[in-house]
Amino acid sequence: MHILGIETSCDETSLALIEVLSPARERTPPQFKVIKNLISSQTKIHEPFGGVVPNLAKREHLKNLPILYKKFITPHPSLLTIDLIAVTVGPGLEPALWTGIEFAKKIHADLRRQYVDQHKLIQAYPHKSASHLRSSAPPLVGVNHLEGHLYSFLLTPKPYTLLNPQMIFPAISLIVSGGHTILLLMKNLYEWKKLGETRDDAAGEAFDKVARLLELPYPGGPQIEKISKKGNPAAIEFPRPMLHQKNYDFSFSGLKTAVLYHLRNTSPNPKPRTQNPANVAASFQAAILDVLVGKTMRAAKEFNAKSIILSGGVAANKPLRRALAKETKKSCLAFFAPEFGYNTDNAAMIAVAGYINSTRKKRFKLEANGNLEI
Ligand code: KG4
Ligand code: ZN
Repeated sequence: MHILGIETSCDETSLALIEVLSPARERTPPQFKVIKNLISSQTKIHEPFGGVVPNLAKREHLKNLPILYKKFITPHPSLLTIDLIAVTVGPGLEPALWTGIEFAKKIHADLRRQYVDQHKLIQAYPHKSASHLRSSAPPLVGVNHLEGHLYSFLLTPKPYTLLNPQMIFPAISLIVSGGHTILLLMKNLYEWKKLGETRDDAAGEAFDKVARLLELPYPGGPQIEKISKKGNPAAIEFPRPMLHQKNYDFSFSGLKTAVLYHLRNTSPNPKPRTQNPANVAASFQAAILDVLVGKTMRAAKEFNAKSIILSGGVAANKPLRRALAKETKKSCLAFFAPEFGYNTDNAAMIAVAGYINSTRKKRFKLEANGNLEI
Protein backbone atom coordinates (compact mmCIF):
# COMPACT_ATOMS: atom_id res chain seq x y z
CA MET A 1 0.00 0.00 0.00
CA HIS A 2 1.26 3.50 -0.90
CA ILE A 3 0.07 6.64 0.85
CA LEU A 4 0.42 10.24 -0.22
CA GLY A 5 0.57 12.67 2.74
CA ILE A 6 0.01 16.43 2.55
CA GLU A 7 0.88 18.85 5.38
CA THR A 8 0.32 22.64 5.44
CA SER A 9 -0.86 23.35 9.00
CA CYS A 10 1.83 25.89 9.91
CA ASP A 11 5.01 27.04 8.20
CA GLU A 12 6.20 23.87 6.48
CA THR A 13 4.77 22.76 3.15
CA SER A 14 5.29 19.04 2.83
CA LEU A 15 4.37 16.17 0.51
CA ALA A 16 5.35 12.59 1.30
CA LEU A 17 4.99 9.12 -0.14
CA ILE A 18 5.23 6.18 2.23
CA GLU A 19 4.85 2.46 1.73
CA VAL A 20 3.28 0.13 4.27
CA LEU A 21 5.84 -2.66 4.75
CA SER A 22 3.76 -4.59 7.21
CA PRO A 23 0.14 -3.77 7.98
CA ALA A 24 -1.36 -2.72 11.29
CA ARG A 25 -2.61 -5.76 13.17
CA GLU A 26 -4.44 -5.83 16.44
CA ARG A 27 -1.27 -6.68 18.32
CA THR A 28 1.53 -5.47 16.06
CA PRO A 29 2.32 -1.90 15.09
CA PRO A 30 2.60 -1.33 11.33
CA GLN A 31 5.94 -0.75 9.62
CA PHE A 32 6.60 1.87 6.99
CA LYS A 33 9.17 2.89 4.47
CA VAL A 34 9.42 6.56 3.56
CA ILE A 35 9.88 6.82 -0.19
CA LYS A 36 9.75 10.61 -0.37
CA ASN A 37 9.37 13.30 2.26
CA LEU A 38 9.65 16.70 0.61
CA ILE A 39 9.58 19.72 2.92
CA SER A 40 9.71 23.37 2.00
CA SER A 41 10.24 25.48 5.10
CA GLN A 42 9.05 29.07 5.34
CA THR A 43 11.06 29.97 8.44
CA LYS A 44 13.13 32.57 6.56
CA ILE A 45 9.90 34.36 5.49
CA HIS A 46 8.52 34.50 9.05
CA GLU A 47 11.83 35.16 10.81
CA PRO A 48 11.61 38.99 10.65
CA PHE A 49 8.22 38.78 12.43
CA GLY A 50 9.48 36.49 15.21
CA GLY A 51 6.67 34.00 14.56
CA VAL A 52 4.37 32.62 11.88
CA VAL A 53 2.13 35.15 10.07
CA PRO A 54 -0.99 33.22 8.91
CA ASN A 55 -1.60 35.04 5.62
CA LEU A 56 2.05 34.88 4.65
CA ALA A 57 1.97 31.16 5.45
CA LYS A 58 -1.06 30.73 3.17
CA ARG A 59 0.62 32.65 0.35
CA GLU A 60 3.79 30.55 0.66
CA HIS A 61 1.89 27.24 0.74
CA LEU A 62 -0.01 28.25 -2.40
CA LYS A 63 3.29 29.04 -4.07
CA ASN A 64 5.18 25.98 -2.80
CA LEU A 65 2.58 23.22 -3.23
CA PRO A 66 2.77 23.08 -7.06
CA ILE A 67 6.57 23.31 -6.94
CA LEU A 68 6.81 20.43 -4.47
CA TYR A 69 4.22 18.45 -6.43
CA LYS A 70 6.27 18.77 -9.60
CA LYS A 71 9.28 17.41 -7.72
CA PHE A 72 7.08 14.74 -6.16
CA ILE A 73 5.88 13.31 -9.48
CA THR A 74 9.35 13.35 -11.03
CA PRO A 75 10.41 10.88 -12.44
CA HIS A 76 7.16 8.89 -12.03
CA PRO A 77 4.30 11.11 -13.16
CA SER A 78 1.55 8.55 -12.49
CA LEU A 79 -0.24 8.54 -9.16
CA LEU A 80 -2.23 5.44 -10.13
CA THR A 81 -0.31 3.30 -7.63
CA ILE A 82 -1.43 5.43 -4.68
CA ASP A 83 -3.94 3.76 -2.36
CA LEU A 84 -4.75 6.61 -0.01
CA ILE A 85 -4.39 10.39 0.12
CA ALA A 86 -4.11 11.90 3.61
CA VAL A 87 -4.21 15.62 4.33
CA THR A 88 -3.93 17.57 7.59
CA VAL A 89 -7.24 19.23 8.54
CA GLY A 90 -6.21 20.61 11.96
CA PRO A 91 -5.16 21.86 14.39
CA GLY A 92 -3.17 24.74 12.93
CA LEU A 93 -3.65 27.99 11.05
CA GLU A 94 -6.93 27.73 9.14
CA PRO A 95 -5.86 29.72 6.05
CA ALA A 96 -2.79 27.47 5.83
CA LEU A 97 -4.80 24.27 6.40
CA TRP A 98 -7.24 25.17 3.62
CA THR A 99 -4.44 25.39 1.05
CA GLY A 100 -3.52 21.75 1.74
CA ILE A 101 -7.13 20.57 1.75
CA GLU A 102 -7.98 22.31 -1.54
CA PHE A 103 -4.79 20.99 -3.09
CA ALA A 104 -5.60 17.45 -1.95
CA LYS A 105 -9.10 17.72 -3.42
CA LYS A 106 -7.65 18.84 -6.73
CA ILE A 107 -5.20 15.92 -6.89
CA HIS A 108 -8.03 13.59 -5.93
CA ALA A 109 -10.29 14.95 -8.71
CA ASP A 110 -7.44 14.58 -11.24
CA LEU A 111 -6.89 11.01 -10.12
CA ARG A 112 -10.57 10.21 -10.47
CA ARG A 113 -10.44 11.42 -14.06
CA GLN A 114 -7.35 9.26 -14.67
CA TYR A 115 -9.22 6.23 -13.31
CA VAL A 116 -12.17 6.88 -15.61
CA ASP A 117 -9.79 7.07 -18.58
CA GLN A 118 -8.01 3.93 -17.44
CA HIS A 119 -11.30 2.12 -17.07
CA LYS A 120 -12.24 3.06 -20.64
CA LEU A 121 -8.85 1.83 -21.83
CA ILE A 122 -9.27 -1.52 -20.07
CA GLN A 123 -12.71 -1.94 -21.64
CA ALA A 124 -11.25 -1.18 -25.06
CA TYR A 125 -8.31 -3.55 -24.58
CA PRO A 126 -9.56 -6.24 -22.15
CA HIS A 127 -6.62 -8.57 -22.93
CA LYS A 128 -4.15 -6.13 -21.31
CA SER A 129 -3.72 -7.07 -17.68
CA ALA A 130 -4.41 -4.29 -15.19
CA SER A 131 -4.71 -6.49 -12.14
CA HIS A 132 -1.92 -4.60 -10.37
CA LEU A 133 -3.92 -1.40 -10.46
CA ARG A 134 -6.75 -0.26 -8.25
CA SER A 135 -10.17 -0.32 -9.90
CA SER A 136 -11.16 3.14 -8.62
CA ALA A 137 -9.61 6.31 -7.25
CA PRO A 138 -8.15 5.99 -3.74
CA PRO A 139 -9.94 7.58 -0.80
CA LEU A 140 -8.99 11.05 0.38
CA VAL A 141 -8.97 11.36 4.18
CA GLY A 142 -8.47 14.17 6.67
CA VAL A 143 -5.82 13.76 9.37
CA ASN A 144 -5.39 15.27 12.83
CA HIS A 145 -1.92 16.83 12.84
CA LEU A 146 -1.39 15.83 16.49
CA GLU A 147 -2.06 12.20 15.62
CA GLY A 148 0.61 12.61 12.96
CA HIS A 149 3.10 13.60 15.68
CA LEU A 150 1.81 10.87 17.99
CA TYR A 151 2.49 8.16 15.39
CA SER A 152 5.72 9.65 14.07
CA PHE A 153 7.78 7.30 16.28
CA LEU A 154 6.87 4.59 13.78
CA LEU A 155 8.99 6.37 11.18
CA THR A 156 12.33 4.78 11.85
CA PRO A 157 14.85 3.15 9.53
CA LYS A 158 15.43 0.41 12.11
CA PRO A 159 12.55 -1.98 11.57
CA TYR A 160 10.60 -2.64 14.73
CA THR A 161 10.53 -6.38 14.09
CA LEU A 162 11.44 -7.08 17.70
CA LEU A 163 8.79 -4.72 18.85
CA ASN A 164 6.19 -6.49 20.81
CA PRO A 165 3.17 -4.36 21.71
CA GLN A 166 3.44 -5.76 25.21
CA MET A 167 6.69 -3.81 25.42
CA ILE A 168 5.01 -0.55 24.45
CA PHE A 169 1.57 -0.33 26.02
CA PRO A 170 0.36 1.14 28.22
CA ALA A 171 2.54 4.03 27.08
CA ILE A 172 2.92 7.64 28.09
CA SER A 173 3.09 9.88 25.04
CA LEU A 174 4.54 13.37 25.36
CA ILE A 175 3.74 15.64 22.39
CA VAL A 176 5.81 18.82 22.51
CA SER A 177 5.47 21.19 19.58
CA GLY A 178 5.23 24.88 18.81
CA GLY A 179 1.50 24.86 19.51
CA HIS A 180 1.00 21.99 21.97
CA THR A 181 2.33 20.29 25.08
CA ILE A 182 0.22 17.22 25.80
CA LEU A 183 0.61 14.10 27.93
CA LEU A 184 -1.42 11.09 26.85
CA LEU A 185 -1.91 7.69 28.39
CA MET A 186 -2.06 5.26 25.47
CA LYS A 187 -3.83 1.96 26.03
CA ASN A 188 -2.83 0.82 22.56
CA LEU A 189 -2.09 2.39 19.19
CA TYR A 190 -5.71 3.48 18.77
CA GLU A 191 -7.00 4.39 22.22
CA TRP A 192 -5.74 7.01 24.62
CA LYS A 193 -6.73 9.43 27.35
CA LYS A 194 -5.44 12.94 27.73
CA LEU A 195 -3.75 13.29 31.12
CA GLY A 196 -2.85 16.94 30.83
CA GLU A 197 -1.71 19.77 28.61
CA THR A 198 -0.32 23.26 28.80
CA ARG A 199 -2.50 25.96 30.31
CA ASP A 200 -0.71 28.74 28.42
CA ASP A 201 2.40 28.61 26.23
CA ALA A 202 3.47 25.38 24.56
CA ALA A 203 7.01 24.10 25.15
CA GLY A 204 8.16 25.06 21.63
CA GLU A 205 6.51 28.45 21.99
CA ALA A 206 8.47 29.02 25.23
CA PHE A 207 11.71 28.11 23.43
CA ASP A 208 10.78 30.55 20.62
CA LYS A 209 9.87 33.39 23.01
CA VAL A 210 12.98 33.02 25.15
CA ALA A 211 15.10 32.90 21.99
CA ARG A 212 13.50 36.17 20.97
CA LEU A 213 14.38 37.73 24.32
CA LEU A 214 17.96 36.65 23.66
CA GLU A 215 17.73 38.15 20.16
CA LEU A 216 18.18 34.77 18.54
CA PRO A 217 16.41 34.06 15.21
CA TYR A 218 13.12 32.18 14.78
CA PRO A 219 12.52 29.25 15.28
CA GLY A 220 14.18 29.55 18.65
CA GLY A 221 14.31 25.91 19.80
CA PRO A 222 17.33 24.83 17.76
CA GLN A 223 19.08 28.13 18.56
CA ILE A 224 18.60 27.74 22.31
CA GLU A 225 19.82 24.16 22.10
CA LYS A 226 22.90 25.28 20.18
CA ILE A 227 24.03 28.11 22.45
CA SER A 228 23.16 26.14 25.59
CA LYS A 229 26.10 23.86 24.83
CA LYS A 230 28.41 26.73 25.79
CA GLY A 231 26.47 27.67 28.92
CA ASN A 232 26.11 26.46 32.47
CA PRO A 233 22.64 24.97 33.12
CA ALA A 234 23.03 25.66 36.86
CA ALA A 235 24.05 29.31 36.41
CA ILE A 236 20.55 30.72 37.03
CA GLU A 237 17.88 29.12 39.17
CA PHE A 238 14.78 29.52 36.98
CA PRO A 239 11.42 28.20 38.27
CA ARG A 240 10.16 24.70 37.37
CA PRO A 241 6.45 25.60 36.92
CA MET A 242 3.93 23.02 38.13
CA LEU A 243 6.59 20.33 38.47
CA HIS A 244 5.41 19.26 41.90
CA GLN A 245 1.68 19.74 41.37
CA LYS A 246 -0.30 16.53 41.43
CA ASN A 247 -1.73 16.98 37.94
CA TYR A 248 -0.32 16.52 34.46
CA ASP A 249 -0.82 20.06 33.20
CA PHE A 250 1.98 22.41 32.25
CA SER A 251 2.49 26.16 32.28
CA PHE A 252 5.46 27.84 30.66
CA SER A 253 4.54 31.50 30.41
CA GLY A 254 5.82 32.18 33.97
CA LEU A 255 9.16 30.64 33.06
CA LYS A 256 9.44 32.93 30.05
CA THR A 257 8.59 35.91 32.31
CA ALA A 258 11.26 34.78 34.81
CA VAL A 259 13.80 34.89 31.98
CA LEU A 260 12.59 38.38 31.02
CA TYR A 261 12.90 39.64 34.63
CA HIS A 262 16.32 38.09 34.96
CA LEU A 263 17.45 39.93 31.83
CA ARG A 264 15.93 43.21 33.03
CA ASN A 265 17.45 42.92 36.49
CA THR A 266 20.91 42.09 35.26
CA SER A 267 21.03 44.53 32.39
CA PRO A 268 19.88 48.12 32.80
CA ASN A 269 18.90 48.79 29.17
CA PRO A 270 17.87 45.85 28.81
CA LYS A 271 20.48 44.48 26.45
CA PRO A 272 20.41 40.72 26.78
CA ARG A 273 23.36 40.29 24.48
CA THR A 274 25.57 42.11 26.96
CA GLN A 275 24.85 39.35 29.47
CA ASN A 276 25.86 35.73 29.13
CA PRO A 277 23.16 34.43 26.75
CA ALA A 278 24.61 30.92 26.82
CA ASN A 279 24.08 30.67 30.58
CA VAL A 280 20.55 32.09 30.31
CA ALA A 281 19.70 29.67 27.48
CA ALA A 282 21.22 26.65 29.24
CA SER A 283 19.47 27.48 32.53
CA PHE A 284 16.14 28.00 30.78
CA GLN A 285 16.53 24.73 28.85
CA ALA A 286 17.40 22.88 32.06
CA ALA A 287 14.25 24.25 33.74
CA ILE A 288 11.86 23.33 30.92
CA LEU A 289 13.42 19.89 30.50
CA ASP A 290 13.16 19.19 34.25
CA VAL A 291 9.42 19.87 34.07
CA LEU A 292 8.82 17.85 30.90
CA VAL A 293 10.88 14.88 32.05
CA GLY A 294 9.69 15.04 35.68
CA LYS A 295 6.00 15.04 34.84
CA THR A 296 6.34 12.42 32.09
CA MET A 297 8.20 10.02 34.39
CA ARG A 298 5.71 10.57 37.20
CA ALA A 299 2.87 9.71 34.83
CA ALA A 300 4.75 6.60 33.70
CA LYS A 301 5.08 5.48 37.32
CA GLU A 302 1.50 6.22 38.27
CA PHE A 303 0.04 4.40 35.26
CA ASN A 304 2.55 1.53 35.15
CA ALA A 305 3.60 2.47 31.65
CA LYS A 306 5.92 0.20 29.73
CA SER A 307 7.24 2.92 27.48
CA ILE A 308 7.58 6.62 26.84
CA ILE A 309 6.84 7.98 23.36
CA LEU A 310 8.17 11.44 22.55
CA SER A 311 7.11 13.56 19.54
CA GLY A 312 6.64 17.06 18.14
CA GLY A 313 9.19 19.67 17.06
CA VAL A 314 10.75 19.93 20.54
CA ALA A 315 11.48 16.18 20.38
CA ALA A 316 14.37 17.21 18.10
CA ASN A 317 16.06 18.62 21.22
CA LYS A 318 18.95 16.26 21.97
CA PRO A 319 19.26 17.08 25.71
CA LEU A 320 15.54 16.26 26.06
CA ARG A 321 15.99 12.96 24.23
CA ARG A 322 19.06 12.13 26.30
CA ALA A 323 17.30 12.98 29.57
CA LEU A 324 14.26 10.84 28.72
CA ALA A 325 16.46 8.01 27.43
CA LYS A 326 18.40 8.06 30.71
CA GLU A 327 15.32 8.14 32.94
CA THR A 328 13.51 5.42 31.00
CA LYS A 329 16.61 3.23 31.18
CA LYS A 330 16.77 3.72 34.95
CA SER A 331 13.13 2.71 35.24
CA CYS A 332 13.46 -0.20 32.78
CA LEU A 333 11.03 1.35 30.29
CA ALA A 334 11.28 1.44 26.52
CA PHE A 335 11.78 4.84 24.92
CA PHE A 336 10.60 5.81 21.45
CA ALA A 337 11.21 9.03 19.55
CA PRO A 338 11.03 9.72 15.83
CA GLU A 339 14.15 9.74 13.72
CA PHE A 340 15.64 13.21 13.19
CA GLY A 341 13.80 14.81 10.30
CA TYR A 342 10.42 13.50 11.47
CA ASN A 343 10.12 15.53 14.69
CA THR A 344 9.20 18.88 13.19
CA ASP A 345 6.25 19.07 10.80
CA ASN A 346 6.37 16.68 7.86
CA ALA A 347 3.90 14.91 5.59
CA ALA A 348 5.29 11.39 6.18
CA MET A 349 3.76 11.39 9.69
CA ILE A 350 0.46 12.59 8.19
CA ALA A 351 0.51 9.66 5.77
CA VAL A 352 1.16 7.29 8.71
CA ALA A 353 -1.78 8.69 10.71
CA GLY A 354 -4.00 8.58 7.60
CA TYR A 355 -3.14 4.92 7.14
CA ILE A 356 -3.67 3.94 10.78
CA ASN A 357 -7.03 5.73 10.87
CA SER A 358 -8.12 4.13 7.60
CA THR A 359 -7.58 0.68 9.11
CA ARG A 360 -10.05 1.66 11.86
CA LYS A 361 -12.43 3.56 9.59
CA LYS A 362 -11.74 6.68 11.67
CA ARG A 363 -12.19 9.83 9.61
CA PHE A 364 -11.97 13.56 10.02
CA LYS A 365 -14.05 16.00 7.97
CA LEU A 366 -12.28 17.54 5.00
CA GLU A 367 -12.59 20.99 6.53
CA ALA A 368 -9.96 23.12 8.23
CA ASN A 369 -10.38 23.05 12.01
CA GLY A 370 -7.76 25.24 13.67
CA ASN A 371 -8.66 23.97 17.16
CA LEU A 372 -9.01 20.25 16.47
CA GLU A 373 -8.19 18.31 19.64
CA ILE A 374 -6.52 14.97 20.10
O1 KG4 B 1 5.97 20.24 15.54
P1 KG4 B 1 6.47 21.52 15.01
O2 KG4 B 1 7.33 21.51 13.78
O3 KG4 B 1 5.29 22.50 14.70
C1 KG4 B 1 4.08 22.51 15.41
O4 KG4 B 1 3.26 21.60 15.19
O5 KG4 B 1 3.97 23.41 16.25
O6 KG4 B 1 7.25 22.25 16.20
C2 KG4 B 1 7.90 23.46 16.03
C3 KG4 B 1 8.50 23.86 17.37
C4 KG4 B 1 9.08 25.28 17.36
O7 KG4 B 1 8.57 25.97 18.47
C5 KG4 B 1 10.57 25.04 17.49
O8 KG4 B 1 11.27 26.07 18.16
C6 KG4 B 1 10.62 23.74 18.25
O9 KG4 B 1 9.57 22.97 17.72
N1 KG4 B 1 11.90 23.04 18.06
C7 KG4 B 1 12.79 22.81 19.06
C8 KG4 B 1 13.90 22.20 18.45
N2 KG4 B 1 13.64 22.06 17.12
C9 KG4 B 1 12.41 22.57 16.90
N3 KG4 B 1 12.72 23.09 20.37
C10 KG4 B 1 13.80 22.76 21.12
N4 KG4 B 1 14.91 22.17 20.62
C11 KG4 B 1 15.00 21.87 19.30
N5 KG4 B 1 16.09 21.31 18.81
ZN1 ZN C 1 3.48 19.97 14.41
